[in-house]
Amino acid sequence: MVLEVIILAAGKGSRMQSTLPKVLHALAGVPLLQHVINTAKKLNPRAIHVVVGHGADAVRTAFLEESVLFHEQADQLGTGHAVMQAIPHCQSNSVVLVLYGDVPLIQTKTLSALCEAATQSPAMLSTLLEKPDGYGRVVRDAQGCFHAVVEDKDATQDQRHIKEVNTGILAAPVNLLTTLLKQVTNTNQQREYYLPDILGLARAGGLSVSIHTTSDIIEVAGVNDRLQLEALERAAQQRYAEALMRQGVAISDRRRIDIRGELICGEGVSVDVNTVFEGRVVLGDDVKIGAHCVLKDTEIAAGSVIEPFCHIESAVIGQNCQVGPYARLRMGTRLDPTSKVGNFVETKNTKVGEGSKANHLAYLGDADIGAGANIGAGTITCNYDGANKHPTRLGDRVFVGSNSTLVAPVVIEDDGFVGAGSVITDNVPRGELAIGRARQHNISGWQPPKKN
Ligand code: UD1
Ligand code: CA
Repeated sequence: MVLEVIILAAGKGSRMQSTLPKVLHALAGVPLLQHVINTAKKLNPRAIHVVVGHGADAVRTAFLEESVLFHEQADQLGTGHAVMQAIPHCQSNSVVLVLYGDVPLIQTKTLSALCEAATQSPAMLSTLLEKPDGYGRVVRDAQGCFHAVVEDKDATQDQRHIKEVNTGILAAPVNLLTTLLKQVTNTNQQREYYLPDILGLARAGGLSVSIHTTSDIIEVAGVNDRLQLEALERAAQQRYAEALMRQGVAISDRRRIDIRGELICGEGVSVDVNTVFEGRVVLGDDVKIGAHCVLKDTEIAAGSVIEPFCHIESAVIGQNCQVGPYARLRMGTRLDPTSKVGNFVETKNTKVGEGSKANHLAYLGDADIGAGANIGAGTITCNYDGANKHPTRLGDRVFVGSNSTLVAPVVIEDDGFVGAGSVITDNVPRGELAIGRARQHNISGWQPPKKN
């Protein structure tokens, strides 16, 4: 079967009250439309067509990297009219599947079944809602077979009691769809060309229309306003959390985790409450993430522990490291195995060598630190001279005493030792002790000032 997927995304989404086109709003860190495109791709279609209208340029720009075809619907004359914009670009004898840019959590499995049922005649996806208000209702005949979809605004009082609703998602052979779309008129309450009318027309023409019903209302839920977006966000997060838990990840509370991108976990991983994962985060075996962390585009190798309240971005953390609590690892941080970065330590573009420690209160920027080094509390790399950034290099087993200022560019060779409170402006040769501070004088017989 040759499949063509048409994704409708031309609507304005006025209820979002946003300057951003609706389908660009993020769900789980990814634009709504991206979710639909990702799902569509799994069906191996010949092409993915996206019908754009409102905010068309912004939508195109956001998906430049995707190999999808955009078709512009200048005026939004209805869902049937929207599909017509893409039809001429579909291969004949294909099956067309219609999806929506604002229905992000539709599942591949449901769609494959729908498409397989649509090689000869249309197939539609329905669901049952306790409150069906606003939706098109599925009207069945005396035998329980599909008869038609009636829009809420066009429905009779009796039809409004029907709880089976049209999800909007349907599949049909392209040639049939083309013929039927030409017969659709806009003589209805909304003066729109309704896509679901093709189903009623098919039935009236003696074809059967198969109805697939899903009980999973999340997968067919649309986003119209920010409340629905937030509700779907929680539902999506719960799904991700449950999938990870089934894989063996110990998540303390599935309601208090946010994965805005991709989280890949090894075995024995645990994640305490309220952590936000952004971009692509990879956690090795037995990694422990404490409460209240933000982790973005980061890899953490086996056995490492991230204590609570850490902020980590674009970092690579080796095995059995210990980070935090309250550490901030910025872009380009690399922690070699068994190293330790403790509370109120900030690192940027810095390598901390194997087994080295910066346990408290330090800024390490543009630094290359060897193995077995000890960075005392209050150590600052002065990497910026007001115009340019400069590197600091510390060899193996270097000891930097507390409250030292390392004025870059500067090198402290292996086994170098810096006395506490030093300002280091010159390189320290291997094994030497550097003391860069005024000597202490004790003044005997000194009298404190007296009040007048
Ligand atoms: C549609 C269905 C309804 C179904 C409901 C499920 C029609 C006529 N009705 O109603 O049976 O119960 O979905 O949510 O299809 N769009 C365009 N171009 C247009 C019109 C719409 O791209 O000219 C897009 C919108 O961006 C939106 C989607 O199609 O994403 C649905 O359009 P909308 O007008 O909101 O349809 P509903 O009234 O929700
Ligand atoms: Ca509408």
